[in-house]
Amino acid sequence: MEPRNEEYIKARIRTVPDWPQPGVQFRDITPLLQDPKTFRVLVDTFVHRYMDQKLDVVAGVDARGFILGAVVAYELNLGFVPIRKKGKLPFTTVAEEYELEYGSATVEIHCDACHAGDRVLLVDDLVATGGTMIAAAKLLTRIGATVVEAAAIVDLPELGGSKLVTAQGIPLYTICDFA
Ligand code: PRP
Ligand code: ADE
Repeated sequence: MEPRNEEYIKARIRTVPDWPQPGVQFRDITPLLQDPKTFRVLVDTFVHRYMDQKLDVVAGVDARGFILGAVVAYELNLGFVPIRKKGKLPFTTVAEEYELEYGSATVEIHCDACHAGDRVLLVDDLVATGGTMIAAAKLLTRIGATVVEAAAIVDLPELGGSKLVTAQGIPLYTICDFA
């Protein structure tokens, strides 16, 4: 990726202080989607990185990972697989529970969402503690797929998630970070 793209994209992410709770700096990606030129630069950054990789499918994480993941899949001429929060998928699912700061959450995938050996690009908007990305990657592995790379727009390195993701053997690409 050209450094210019990183700066261009990072400059257009909005920081909302104290949302959804005091002390959190929420990194809001909606301005990237709203402006057509910025949306194109964002999508093209991912498409350019993955266009020459041998991928079979793109998976995206509920909900913000759907926006980017589906468009990147379309541009790469690949199918899209949703990884959803618990109780949303209608067919037989495989589930993975993971820890949040307080309590836990569960993500699910359809058991037939990938073929054995499928090479998957996993997309979300942001890596914080890494729990969501790791759980999503585990789901894909459990249904027989290989996660070629996990990709997100933003890394929050101070929360340690990106290190945990790579420590699990999942290659991770993020466009920018907020330290
Ligand atoms: C956010 C974000 C990632 C996840 C990152 O999703 O979109 O999926 O948190 O956090 P982690 O690295 O600590 O797991 P959220 O669960 O808030 O859902 P949303 O996309 O529906 O807003
Ligand atoms: N998900 C978890 N932490 C977040 C943050 N600080 N900004 C946006 N999304 C998040």
